[in-house]
Amino acid sequence: MSFEEENEAKASFDDVYVAPTPHGYIAAMAESGYQIGEQARRYCAAAARLLKERNGAALPLQMLDVGCSYGIGSAFVKYNCSFDEMVAFFATRAPADYRAACAATRMWLNITPPACRIRTVGLDSSEPAIRFAVDAGLLDGGIARDFELAGARPTESERAWFRGCNLLMSTGAIGYVTERTLDVVLRDLGKEAPGEFGPVAVVTILRMFDVGPIRKAFEDWGYAFTAVPGVRLPQRRFTDAKERREVLAILHQRGVETGAWEDDGRHYADLYVASAPEHLDVLLSRMTSVHGTDDDGGKSPFIHR
Ligand SMILES: C[S@@+](CC[C@H](N)C(=O)[O-])C[C@H]1O[C@@H](n2cnc3c(N)ncnc32)[C@H](O)[C@@H]1O
Repeated sequence: MSFEEENEAKASFDDVYVAPTPHGYIAAMAESGYQIGEQARRYCAAAARLLKERNGAALPLQMLDVGCSYGIGSAFVKYNCSFDEMVAFFATRAPADYRAACAATRMWLNITPPACRIRTVGLDSSEPAIRFAVDAGLLDGGIARDFELAGARPTESERAWFRGCNLLMSTGAIGYVTERTLDVVLRDLGKEAPGEFGPVAVVTILRMFDVGPIRKAFEDWGYAFTAVPGVRLPQRRFTDAKERREVLAILHQRGVETGAWEDDGRHYADLYVASAPEHLDVLLSRMTSVHGTDDDGGKSPFIHR
């Protein structure tokens, strides 16, 4: 079954992905109990810390968020925002008018000290989402392109952005984004200054998707790619009975056991990491060291069964 066929089973949020401001997206995600970005935050932040430690201050830390929407991963990793904070900000403090929303967001970020020194670049097929994220200061750089389209090739300046990034993250986007986009990105990722550690990736993938083509894309570019043992993250609730029925049918057809997971009415994703083969063990151990903890070291309220 292809990603296109699997996507048919999922509810469509296409309208809110392309609005001029994030209000509709954030509200729709809150409504559906969307939480995968926040769930993945501690793992992306741990990978960032690892790169910083290994590369030292000389190599800048630069993250590429693939399928970034309005710069959501950057808000999580760079600014350590919680999803609830974003929901509250866009519901009450960010005006609907584009310019006013950008100005209010910039002001909000100005009083939110970055959690770590990191530059963030986003890639998304939604031109309005990228424009807002850059204009509002959520992203340092943005690439509005759809590399799933047949024959789509990156420009030299887009390739330069990819070469400058040494951390790839992606939450909630695989399925829309497939091996076609990854093939474009991984060709150049981190090539500008790989350091001793090389680039790493932290990616969530819904269990309904066949991970084989994604694994192959990473392996074709020399990465070791693996699921982080014991980490399974809730993404959002099924929007209706039809979505639930069709997603469960796909999972069961593939022989995936859903009793302890999707049967509770939610999509679940597994967490995958990729790195140079010789660094995979240390990357995995960083992932498991933040497993089950909040960023502040407290016990996670989230599910890691
Ligand atoms: C569920 S949202 C996830 C957004 C964000 N990563 C998060 O977790 O909040 C999926 C995103 O994938 C983007 N997308 C869909 N097709 C894409 C493509 N071909 N290339 C890049 N991004 C795409 C959508 O525009 C949307 O922003």
